[in-house]
Amino acid sequence: MSIQTELQSTITDLVVKGKGILAADESHPTMTKRFKAINVESTEESRRAYRSLLLTTPGLGEFSSGIILFEETLEQKTDDGKLLPQVAAEQGIVPGIKVDKGTLPLANAAGDLITQGLDGLAERLTGYKEHGARFAKWREIYSISALNPTPLGIAANAEVLARYAAICQSLGIVPIVEPEVLLDGDHTIERCLEVTEAVQHAVFHALHRHRVELEYIVLKPSMVVPGKNAQNKASPEEIAEKTLAQLRRSVPAAMPGINFLSGGQTPEEATVNLNAMNAMAGNAPWQLSFSYGRALQQPVLQAWQGKPENIKAAQNALYKRAKLNGAARYGSYTAEMEKE
Ligand code: 13P
Repeated sequence: MSIQTELQSTITDLVVKGKGILAADESHPTMTKRFKAINVESTEESRRAYRSLLLTTPGLGEFSSGIILFEETLEQKTDDGKLLPQVAAEQGIVPGIKVDKGTLPLANAAGDLITQGLDGLAERLTGYKEHGARFAKWREIYSISALNPTPLGIAANAEVLARYAAICQSLGIVPIVEPEVLLDGDHTIERCLEVTEAVQHAVFHALHRHRVELEYIVLKPSMVVPGKNAQNKASPEEIAEKTLAQLRRSVPAAMPGINFLSGGQTPEEATVNLNAMNAMAGNAPWQLSFSYGRALQQPVLQAWQGKPENIKAAQNALYKRAKLNGAARYGSYTAEMEKE
């Protein structure tokens, strides 16, 4: 298969009406934090058990076109000895892989961060592909303050995202490009709009410079929302209206799919906001979907509590959340559906 055909078939499998992506790619420190909240120790075995539970959820493939995995999961197996990426593929879910190596402070740009992991990336991707990964994810993060992100931070992060995306495409791997503007702070929704627009403008400019083919990437942005501690909250309609306005200004129509992160929104908020966006999107050129981590997994962790006897309840919780977000893809979610 040519690289072009490979990229096209992965995009076709990932960007599907009514479906989104499950982010299950937490690094070890993040997984330790998530498990601590339910008094489970994070070990290779507990992570394997938990991620097996996610992937073997009956019917998950009805609402999930892809799953983002963490490196160790690629080689882990279910209790009956089946490789986890294989389990995903059998559910019709495309396995992908987080490839960035976290952030460090960006020198000479106080308050901004930069993501590590470009060195040796091509070699790592080649290995991941042999283990079944067909797409990758890389996240740059931007916090909002009076002075951040700085122009230098915006430019440097965009350059790194574009270099990552170009390397992925050269190997036939679809890159998920994730510029996350953080929710932390007391900034207004207008300030979030301004920052998100500047960030995405720089990202698409860099993608163009690096000759990344927009037809074969997925954008994973944050929504335009007020800071977590902002005085004025925003309605789902206002969030949808401002996010759509910002996307129309920044994102070329060649891009097939936009899959939002949840970024610390509650599971209900993330569903309601996605729903409002799809209800309002009209003839938007891209599909608006989800690539949620916490907003899909929080109820699952709560139901599971690390106990084998809770696996069924935990899988039911995942199926329900995925289904509700599937409805939000059509703008047909209602609060009533939470009770079913
Ligand atoms: P959240 O939806 O929890 O923000 O996670 C998505 C993700 O993949 C962050 O990189």
